[in-house]
Order: sequence, then structure tokens, then C-alpha cells
Amino acid sequence: MSDIAQLIRTIPNYPKEGIMFRDITTLLKDPKGFQTTINMLVEKYKNAPIDYIAGIEARGFILGSALAFALGKGFIPVRKKGKLPGKTITQNYDLEYGSDTIEIHDDALHSGANVLLIDDLIATGGTAIGAITLIEKVGGKIYETAFVVDLPELGGAKKIQSMGHKVFTLCSFAGH
Ligand code: PRP
Ligand code: MG
Repeated sequence: MSDIAQLIRTIPNYPKEGIMFRDITTLLKDPKGFQTTINMLVEKYKNAPIDYIAGIEARGFILGSALAFALGKGFIPVRKKGKLPGKTITQNYDLEYGSDTIEIHDDALHSGANVLLIDDLIATGGTAIGAITLIEKVGGKIYETAFVVDLPELGGAKKIQSMGHKVFTLCSFAGH
């Protein structure tokens, strides 16, 4: 198990019976763990032709803003419905334990902007695919997608790869 994986806590049966919740709060509160996580992403993307980092509310904001700051790039928020003040476009999506709606400002990106999409975790891929759809609808290009945690059995990373996008993950957990 990687150092990063060891710092991620598992909470059984949250938020629903049968879900093993992979909780990154224990990784984030560990100064070395948080720094190592961001440093690994910086190493991977420091020479990449990225214009922006887009992070998905809520946990993708924590990682995405730290990474954007470290890389010297701008940060674009993909938010849950009703939170962005400007004109938005909206996308519904399904996830492991329900469904939700995310939004992006319709003027968030210039046409052809190269975007690295980041979130803490990929499970079914519903959330990330929703965000990819929004980024592409406002004219952006997905450079790559990055996640701290992959749950490969839920198939999200494979789905994104089959759409022709690259997926980078720092660790993975078996089971749901
Ligand atoms: C979790 C996680 C990812 C998403 C992954 O977010 O942070 O964003 O689910 O699931 P998927 O690949 O099946 O779509 P959650 O919706 O629980 O919200 P939060 O980040 O706001 O806590
Ligand atoms: Mg999330």
C-alpha cells in the first residue's frame, strides 16, 4: 500500500449501507501526506501544456486549488447546482449513491483551453464525466483527468479512458 493510501481512512456504511467511504480528511490533515500528494501531481504535470486546473466541488476544490497554486495555473470551479453567480450551464449525473447536478460558468474557459480536471476520487465516473461534458460544452479541451483515489471495480476510470481521455490516479482501493 502506498504512503498516501495508508493515510486514507475507510468508513464502512457511509453515506449508505454497503458503501465503504474512502475518507481523504485524514490524508489532508497529515502535513507530509498532503504535501506528498500535491508534489506527486506537480511532478506529473509541471511541464504539461495546461492552461487551467478544473476542480469538482467539494473535495476536488481542496486538491485542485493546491495544485493550481503550485503549478502557477488558474483554477476553475465546477460546482454543485445553484452556487455560481454568473451565467452557467448545467449537467445532471449519477453517482454510486444517488444523483446530483453540477455547473460551470459559461464563460469560464476560452475556446481550446487545455484543462486538467481533478477530483479526489473516481468511482462510477458519473461526476467526472459530467464535468468533462461541461468543460467541453464551454469550449475547453480535456488535457487529462487526475484523481487521488481510484475504485477500479466501479469502472469509472475505464469509462473515461474509453471516451479517449487519459486518467492518472495516485492509489486505488479494492471493493466499493
Ligand atoms: C464523491 C467524490 C467524487 C465522486 C465520485 O463526491 O468526491 O466527486 O463522489 O463518484 P463517481 O465517480 O461515482 O461519480 P460527493 O458527490 O460525495 O461529494 P463531495 O465531494 O461534495 O463530498
Ligand atoms: Mg466529490
